[in-house]
This record gives sequence, structure tokens and C-alpha cells, in this order.
Amino acid sequence: MDIAVKSGNAAKQQTQCLVLFTGTKGKQPVFASVDKETGGALSTLITRGDLQQTAGKTLLIPAVSGIKAERVLLVALGKEKPTAADGEKIVSAVASTLSRARITDAVIAFDDIELSDQDTVWLVRLFARNITNAGYTFDHYKSKKKDDTDSVELSSVALLQASRKELEPLKQAAAEGAAIAAGMSMARDLGNQPGNVCTPKYLTEQAKELAKGVTKLSVKALGEKDMEKLGMLSFLSVSKGSSQEGQLIIMDYKGGKKADKPVVLLGKGITFDSGGISLKPGAGMDEMKYDMCGAASVFGTMKAIVDLQLPINVIGLIATAENMPAGHASKPGDIVTSMSGQTIEILNTDAEGRLVLCDALTYAERFKPKAVVDIATLTGACIVALGHHTSGLISNNDELAEALFAAGNTAGDKAWRLPMGEEYQKQLDSNFADMANIGGSGAGTITAGCFLSRYAKEFPWAHLDIAGTAWKSGGEKGATGRPVPLLVQYILSQLPS
Ligand code: BES
Ligand code: MN
Ligand code: ZN
Repeated sequence: MDIAVKSGNAAKQQTQCLVLFTGTKGKQPVFASVDKETGGALSTLITRGDLQQTAGKTLLIPAVSGIKAERVLLVALGKEKPTAADGEKIVSAVASTLSRARITDAVIAFDDIELSDQDTVWLVRLFARNITNAGYTFDHYKSKKKDDTDSVELSSVALLQASRKELEPLKQAAAEGAAIAAGMSMARDLGNQPGNVCTPKYLTEQAKELAKGVTKLSVKALGEKDMEKLGMLSFLSVSKGSSQEGQLIIMDYKGGKKADKPVVLLGKGITFDSGGISLKPGAGMDEMKYDMCGAASVFGTMKAIVDLQLPINVIGLIATAENMPAGHASKPGDIVTSMSGQTIEILNTDAEGRLVLCDALTYAERFKPKAVVDIATLTGACIVALGHHTSGLISNNDELAEALFAAGNTAGDKAWRLPMGEEYQKQLDSNFADMANIGGSGAGTITAGCFLSRYAKEFPWAHLDIAGTAWKSGGEKGATGRPVPLLVQYILSQLPS
């Protein structure tokens, strides 16, 4: 997809589809100027009521005389000053309509959208992201691909501004939106891959692939022997039940100054979570191939950072293993010593995410990080608490929590902070070890966060529980690419000014 930002006169555009925005009165300047060229044909439709005035309603008009565009897509603003939430509806309606319209190019005259609570940079970033995303499919394993049919694909979109002023920041915003979409697409592809293909070693290969020809990015991976030497016995207690070797992947992106402390993004990469000996029920178990979506979001974010060549140091850490039942698998009641020296009683082998993450958090200390954010499909309880709309956020640092919360709001990829405290920490008490790996009944998302916090004392740390937001079930089954938008927005907010 080629997304350009340019200046020009909307009425003069030679395109397969000109996209215009209008309120009930048709007074928006660009709309009005094009309407004039058509002899009032467009405003006649508006006054006749052909376009329902709710934000994001659309009307595709095949041909209008007086202008060069082959079609016009009219989009309702809903109100004179739409909000950012209306803006999200408007942008996604345009993206999905254009991607289904059997056209290859379009021009979007976005000047008429004036949002009450967001600026043009935000709007352009969102357009670029949604338009690039709209055509996403995962048909890798279908014998008959979408491209084999006679489908016509949108390949070039221009975002048109009347004035020549401030084109540069808008071009940057479009590049950001496209990079976020490319990152989401990578995260979705990795998530949708089946567990027999997407194994820990496969993720290592993907990381090496990402670094190919990118001088700022270097990649290495630790295998089980290396981890044993480091004393990562908590991590290894998960991978030992599987014949797939566990991996700790380190993606080191150096875009900032040498002395700048890095941000570490740590992804949970359980490529299949059967539950282990604490076996999960059979129904819907296939969806546990998505238990590596935290890792996938780190991949996607690293890709966006590389695409944009951002001037910042970021380390992507991937803790990846398969959680399987076997004669040599961990059993409930087993006790292991983590790399930090703290001992853990494994009361439930299905609480495996925290067992791989805790050792990776200890490993992260060596980078002297400015902040560590882990991203994990960690608890079913998070779906009970927040449903499929909002990711869970837990942190030991208010500033970091607020930066992530704000980034989520800006990117339309929301997170909500949950508390942490002594009363919850107590739920992890074990009779035999320093802690248990489960916190008993109630507050499952919080006690999982409490567990991780015990390995994150050396740096500002935050945890995103994406159990409810990383993929969709049912007829729309598939990875969403979340929280790549939140993470990229957060990284953008951390750039030197
Ligand atoms: N990967 C699961 C969490 C999960 C479940 C995510 C369903 C999305 C949908 C995680 O490893 C797990 O099994 N967690 C347990 C923890 C429990 C044993 C304390 C859970 O949530 O049931
Ligand atoms: Mn589990
Ligand atoms: Zn899991």
C-alpha cells in the first residue's frame, strides 16, 4: 500500500474515488467547493437525506459530472465538530469501504474533518494505519488464495490537503501510521500461524530475518543449555515438558545515543499452552496457539521501530517455550529456583507464563533499562475483569503507567490500570517455597502481576495483560495485532525532543 500526503484542489483530482466529508448542511469548505463544480449535485443528495447523518455513514456515488474523479464517496461527520471517537468511526468506515470498493486508488480530502479533541497529525496517522490494515488476510494455508480470484486491491491512497503548509509533519504521521499497520500485520501473522509451525525456534528465525540488512538491529538467542548456565530453572521448568527447545531471544535495536538507557519490551511467547500436567479443558484449546501474542506484539513493535528508524534504544526480549504434559514435565507441587535465587512452588503448571517471564525479567537487569514493559496473554481472569476491549495494566511506577495509559488512549488501543498491594502479594504465600505460582481465588490478574513484580525491583516496570485483546474468537477468529499501536505510540512518546 502506498500512502501519500499531498496538497491540491479536490475538484481537480483525477482518481478512481474522491472521498469527501460532510455535515447535514454541506457547509464544509472542501465539500462545498467540489459541490459547486458538480452544479450542486452532491448537496442535493445531502438535503434529500440520502446520507444518514451519523459519524461514519457512507454513500458511494458511481459518477458525477463536472469533476474528474470517477466516483465520489461521501462520508457523514455526524456533527459539526466530531470527537476523536467519531473520528475513529469515520476513518474505519472509509478504510473498509475503500478496501471493498474494487478500486485501486483513492484521494481523501480530509481538511473538512475538524475534531474537537485531536489534531490533524493524529488523524493522518490513523488514516494511514487503518487503510493499510483494511486489506489484511491470512490465507497462507488456503489452497485457493484471495489473489487467485478476480479481486481488485486498493494499492495507492493520497491524503489531500488544500494548503501547502505543514506537509512535513503530516508525511511523518502517515509514515508512522503505515509502520504501525505493518507491525500489526506482522504480529497478526505470527499469532495466526499454527503451533506446529510457530515454535520457539521459528520465532528465533523470525527475529534473525527481521534483523537482516538492518545495521541498527542485532539478534541473538539463548537455548536451554545457555539458560541452564544462567540458572533460569523457572523458565526451564516450563519448556522441559516439550520436545521443542525453549528460547530466550534478544533483539537489540540501537537507534539512540550509546549512553541512552534502553526501553526493554518483554513478550510472553508460549507457542502452545496445553496447561501442562494441569491440563486445560479440550474446548477451544486450539486458541492457545495465541499464547505467544505478547511476543508477537514485541516483534511487530520492533518492526515499526526499524521501519521508522527511530532514534531510541530498545531491546525486544522474547521468552518462548511450549507448555506440554509429558513424563518429564513439571508436576504440581514441584519447587524450582529462579535465576533471581527466589524459590517457587509450582501449584499449577498452567500458570506457566509468569514462570518464563520471571527469569527473563531478571535477565533484563543487565541492560540497566530505563523501563521494562512485559506483554503477556497471562490470565483468563483479565477477560472476566475487562472483557475484550481493554488490556490490563499493572506497574510499580506511576510515571510509566501513565505514559502507557496515555499511549493506549491516543492509539485507540486502551489499557486500564489495576492495583497492586501487600494484601494481594500475601495470596502468593507458600508453605514450602518463597512463593507459589498461583494466588488462589480472586484477583487472578493482580496476583499474576504481583508475582512478576517480585522480579522487577531493579527498574521501573509495567505489565500488560492482553489475554482479552490479542485475538478474537468465533467466526472472526484471528489475531488483532494489539497492543502494537499502544507500544509504538509509547515508544514515540519516549523519543528525545
Ligand atoms: N495463557 C493462559 C491465560 C489465558 C487463558 C489467556 C484464556 C487467554 C485466554 C495462562 O497461561 C493460564 O493458563 N492462566 C491460568 C492461570 C491460573 C492457573 C492461575 C488461567 O488464567 O486460568
Ligand atoms: Mn497456562
Ligand atoms: Zn499461557
